[in-house]
Amino acid sequence: MSAHSDTLDEIFETFAALAPDIRASLPGRRVKSDETNPSGETRLEADAYADELIEDAVAEIDGVGIYASEEQADPVDVGDGPVSIACDPLDGSSNIKPNSPMGTIIAVYEGELPASGDDLLASGFVLFGPILTMTVARDGDVYEANVGDGEIDVIDDDVTIPDEPVVYGMGGRVPDWTDGFAAFIDEVEQEYKLRYGGAMVADVNQVLTYGGIFSYPALQSAPNGKLRLQFEGIPMAYIVESAGGESSDGSGSILDVEPTEFHQRVPVHLGNAELIDRVETHLADA
Ligand code: F6P
Repeated sequence: MSAHSDTLDEIFETFAALAPDIRASLPGRRVKSDETNPSGETRLEADAYADELIEDAVAEIDGVGIYASEEQADPVDVGDGPVSIACDPLDGSSNIKPNSPMGTIIAVYEGELPASGDDLLASGFVLFGPILTMTVARDGDVYEANVGDGEIDVIDDDVTIPDEPVVYGMGGRVPDWTDGFAAFIDEVEQEYKLRYGGAMVADVNQVLTYGGIFSYPALQSAPNGKLRLQFEGIPMAYIVESAGGESSDGSGSILDVEPTEFHQRVPVHLGNAELIDRVETHLADA
């Protein structure tokens, strides 16, 4: 049983309860606001709304001390509790315009931020797909639940990545890939099926469902890639590793990456161990 078990229960119940409200808010908030987030990306009204809703709700949880959001420059003090939440309120929100899936990513750390994989207590994501689901990794196990009614209704209490990989999906423009990554993709495209939707949560969930690999690699123009360590890299790596897969920043587990900055980026590879080993070998050989 993890430390802060009651607080973790309350946190995931809170995100389950918020999910239908966030989904209901989307149709009227597809438009861009005139703001950018701390990573320089244009915010949608939906990003801002979800962020406010989540901050207000988690501030009510006794065990929570800090709420940090990909949408805000600095962590916010929301109480006296020992637990920090790092959240990407609407991951892949550019998918709202074409009405494609996206999600919310939740990382729960013990202590101050930025934190490392060692400090992670649990993580999860809500997937705004055709079905509203939440996937949570705690104590090394992963469950998937329906949350359409705002309650956690577990539909799979042992999410495990299939042994045989089927799909691959990767971000970044092809001319911007490094030679090692391009060589890896040359190989996998002969064997597996390309599936890429542009929202990490949905793309990783395909890998959890069918087996395979999701990458947002180091690019020539961006050696640390695009995705953020605290908000995306560590929580999604913990889910995939707990489901029997592996994670890598190109040379080792994302859970071992040293955090230096709050909004730091990290190359991300998540999937079956065999494919993670292969991408690491190609990157090391190039
Ligand atoms: O970080 C936000 C995000 O939308 C991720 O969910 C997704 O994996 C990535 O960016 C998509 O980036 P691109 O549009 O470059 O493929």
